[in-house]
Amino acid sequence: MNIKKVLAYQVLDSRGRPTVAVTLTLSDGSMHTARVPSGASTGAHEAHELRDGGGGKAENFYGGKSVFSAVANVNEIIAPKLIGHSLNPAAIDGILVEVDPTPGHQRIGANATLATSLVVAKASAHASGKSLARFYQPTGPLLIPMPMVNILSGGAHANRSLDIQDVLVIPHAAQSFAEALSWIVAIRERAASDGKSHGVTHLVADEGGLGLSFASTDDACEFVLAQIELLGLSGKVSLALDIASTQFFAANKYSLTTSGKTFSSEEFVNEMLNLVNTYPISSIEDPFAEDDWAAWSAFTAQAPDKLQILGDDLFTTNLHRLERGIAEKSATAILIKANQNGLVTSTHRVLDHAQANNFATVVSARSGETEDSWLADLAIGWRAGQIKVGSTHGSERTAKWNRLLEIEALDETEFSKPF
Ligand code: PGA
Ligand code: ZN
Repeated sequence: MNIKKVLAYQVLDSRGRPTVAVTLTLSDGSMHTARVPSGASTGAHEAHELRDGGGGKAENFYGGKSVFSAVANVNEIIAPKLIGHSLNPAAIDGILVEVDPTPGHQRIGANATLATSLVVAKASAHASGKSLARFYQPTGPLLIPMPMVNILSGGAHANRSLDIQDVLVIPHAAQSFAEALSWIVAIRERAASDGKSHGVTHLVADEGGLGLSFASTDDACEFVLAQIELLGLSGKVSLALDIASTQFFAANKYSLTTSGKTFSSEEFVNEMLNLVNTYPISSIEDPFAEDDWAAWSAFTAQAPDKLQILGDDLFTTNLHRLERGIAEKSATAILIKANQNGLVTSTHRVLDHAQANNFATVVSARSGETEDSWLADLAIGWRAGQIKVGSTHGSERTAKWNRLLEIEALDETEFSKPF
């Protein structure tokens, strides 16, 4: 089967900001669409998201955030090279690299390359008569990932009502994904009604979490643990934190707004050790800044063996950074975000390399998402083990949860037990 037509256009993400969509038409007449997400607390080492900025084609209502140049790059530079081409995701990703060999797709934009790369993967699954998940794993029981789900949001996603970005829960003792999700919804509902003393209860943050105010990370952990206990789920649901510390690291100091305290790297390692030794925390993400490699290694050497130490901004789904992290024992797990990388096949390669080196893998959405659900299929097809999508609120989030529920209901599956 061949590619007949490739057309990119601008659509909106869940923050109401423009993003790139691509619709690909195959020689059998079928049409396939992919849309790319966008982050807010982005790492410095991510692939380049091309936005129009001021001037030129930015003469529109999107304040420089439009993506008309990325759209034009797909339609004018990429599409002519793909028309008539057979469906081979690796070969087509190779063409995208030839078109723009700069690191991070600086010239044509990682939003242009990822939208194209994703739609080719989707169309290839169709051409082989399979779902996207089954395209990657044709036979055997599929692995439904364990979710880590946002209950409280802070940082860049909630006007810094908390210093850290997320307090999440992991329903590690659930027997199925459907049961896991039911526990999470109950915890979030309890937290929303109990949260009245911590601010406006229905202030929903970028990823659908509750944007409540707390004096400290400890208070936020205590609050979520209280909800878990009141539901009789103590010992069955643990906490996860995304510290997103690059956001409050400057001039070699970690500076917290809520407490007004400032820490050196060494002091912040101890602060994070105190936190993980005090609460039932299964996973901690970005406890240190994206280039504070020494702090990461010092923490990993001293942290409890069971703790998952997860690199997001540290690794930015980049093979070279992952290789350094493996060599320096900086972490024990990697967050996988396709748009940090820019291509489906090389994102998959990063995940495979992590798994081959005994790193846990957590496939993740971005804070700016669309209703597209490819993330769920990739997490399953690639046997990631864990998934992070934000909260259970917002159709851009439920699109992924519902796709996982659909696969669990329809296919032969097992539920991942990483903790
Ligand atoms: P982002 O946040 O999508 O805004 O980067 C998600 C995360 O930090 O995990
Ligand atoms: Zn993160």
